[in-house]
Amino acid sequence: MFIVQRERGYLDPPGVQYLADRLQLRVTDIWEVATFYSMLHLKPVGKYHIQICKTLSCKIMGEGKITEHVCNKLGIKPGETTPDGKFTVSLVECLGSCGTAPMFQLNFDYHENLTPEKVDQILDSLP
Ligand code: FES
Repeated sequence: MFIVQRERGYLDPPGVQYLADRLQLRVTDIWEVATFYSMLHLKPVGKYHIQICKTLSCKIMGEGKITEHVCNKLGIKPGETTPDGKFTVSLVECLGSCGTAPMFQLNFDYHENLTPEKVDQILDSLP
């Protein structure tokens, strides 16, 4: 599924049909897995996908302030992509980095112990 996503940008219906045929599964079997994991995308995402953890430890440690800061900085809401296609913001369940909350995953990299200032440094350093 990840290879199809990497090749096509997301798990589009033809890609899901290909997987079902290739793995000899029902299309619904593929969708059941695809809709469960936040690393699998059912629609196109921006060049930079910011997945902010919204679960308990991050919530307690300031996830709301981080989400608000990221969204205000980019001018979008969670679930949206900037008009230039550069950034997508998503809220996701625990990413297993609870001890360094609040945190987000930016593409494949974790950024932890976030503050608004640290978020600015991270986002402003992106090409
Ligand atoms: S609660 Fe945020 S990483 Fe676990």
